[in-house]
Amino acid sequence: MFEKKTILTGVKPTGTPHLGNYLGAIRPAIRLGHEALAAGGRHYMFIADYHAINAEKDPAVLNQKLREIACIYLAGGLDPAKSIFYRQSDIAEIPEITTILYAYTPKGFMNKAHAYKAAVDKNREAGKPDDDGINMGLYTYPTLMAADILTYDTDIVPVGKDQVQHVEIARDIAGAINAHYGKELLHLPEYFVDNNVAVVPGVDGRKMSKSYGNVIPLFEDDKAIKKAIFSIKTDSRPMEEPKDPEEILVYEIYKAIATPAQLQEMGDGLRQGKLGYGHIKNMLLDAVIAEVSEARDKYNYYLAHFDEVEGMLEDGAAKARPVARATLKRLKDAVFGN
Ligand code: TRP
Repeated sequence: MFEKKTILTGVKPTGTPHLGNYLGAIRPAIRLGHEALAAGGRHYMFIADYHAINAEKDPAVLNQKLREIACIYLAGGLDPAKSIFYRQSDIAEIPEITTILYAYTPKGFMNKAHAYKAAVDKNREAGKPDDDGINMGLYTYPTLMAADILTYDTDIVPVGKDQVQHVEIARDIAGAINAHYGKELLHLPEYFVDNNVAVVPGVDGRKMSKSYGNVIPLFEDDKAIKKAIFSIKTDSRPMEEPKDPEEILVYEIYKAIATPAQLQEMGDGLRQGKLGYGHIKNMLLDAVIAEVSEARDKYNYYLAHFDEVEGMLEDGAAKARPVARATLKRLKDAVFGN
């Protein structure tokens, strides 16, 4: 499906990713990139730091999050020699292209964009004025995202369900521009929602999320991972009592990480009353550590040698820039009749 396609993934450098982010979003994104490359396509992978400044104003925090996210993707197997890996703010053409797109962005689209609507809803719940604390960066977020996508003639944007609307807005803006100038100045992207990726439950059974405080950490030491895993909710039934694995949270989390044979083993042990909660937590712990330890070493290496990563991001920007420049020129020529 990715035959000669250009796929583009963007990630906001906010929050320290946890195991659920890694298994449910980061690794699948890297895998899709590899698939596209193997099929003769291109893979752009960028850190959306301009998007991050709408919400985060502390330079030290922004810098730290950018470093973390860059190192996590590299640790997870992103190959910067093959994927075009860059920082959004290194491509000056992006905000220029955004400015042109604004002229074709109906304000009504922004009113309906869900990130803005969610912020308004939150204000209403708190009894505040609708637009309290909402800046233009957040309000016009989808147009900048459209520029991210349209700049590189992207075919496919892998996204979570919450981002589908943004890709549709990018399509609509591109369509309006193409219709106005009577030619395909911008390539219409499609979104791709991967329904096979794991939604990993947290230690309390709700979706794993930092805001719920129920996360299993990713690249912390074994002790911290163990502490989280041993806090996973269980009940007081004795080991000997046969149990339906589907009702057991440890097993649900194990699903996201175990091989079919490992899963079978835990399932059988629970059904037959041969494995207690301590056992299965240790099995999960071993699987998590096996899964993350190599990546964790790489992560720690890159964080400690960020100058190397900086070089990779600069190389990536050098590859992205000529494409961005060509798109900007195409647009300006059409818009200003050059
Ligand atoms: N909006 C995306 C998010 O919140 C990040 C993003 C910015 C993005 N620009 C993009 C994703 C372009 C895909 C394509 O996660």
